[in-house]
Amino acid sequence: FSFDAESEAEIPQILAKYPPGKQASAVLPLLYLVQRQMARASGSAWVPRVAMDEIARRLGLAPIRVYEVATFYLMFNTRPVGKYHLQVCTTTPCWLRGSEEVVKACREATGIKDWKETSADGLFTMTEVECLGACVNAPVLQVNDDYYEDMDAERVKALIETLKRGGELPRPGSMAGRQASAPEGGP
Ligand code: FES
Repeated sequence: FSFDAESEAEIPQILAKYPPGKQASAVLPLLYLVQRQMARASGSAWVPRVAMDEIARRLGLAPIRVYEVATFYLMFNTRPVGKYHLQVCTTTPCWLRGSEEVVKACREATGIKDWKETSADGLFTMTEVECLGACVNAPVLQVNDDYYEDMDAERVKALIETLKRGGELPRPGSMAGRQASAPEGGP
């Protein structure tokens, strides 16, 4: 595995964020870097084992230290995924607000039968995820790195049909036009 020029340019900036001797903490951002590079290069955002070995080499770590991080966090894909990774939150608040409908609509629109499967056209992979921290606008569907909130069957189907036609992902956020409320004077 080789980092491409864009990734190579980012690596020193990432490492500079950690005090001397603590560069092992850069495992997480370097795994993200690989995942983004793979998405650019192949359309599939995932982290191959050879890339984990390269991160270990760069950071002077035993490869197992990188594998254990990559396999612990759900946001790293250790196998290829479709161009659009549909991550459906099914934790209680989303479930109470209709995540089962979101799951059903994703399955019907993509032909995917089970979690972790990729559609026959290679465009979609479906994963079940835990709370994404956006319960205020439940139910939530994460597509690649973006959150689509206040989803229902119709909105899911419209979004997937758009992507099948080669359209752009809509702007993330509430699909019902709701805003996440920020505290007075907050960010
Ligand atoms: Fe789905 Fe929190 S339960 S975002």
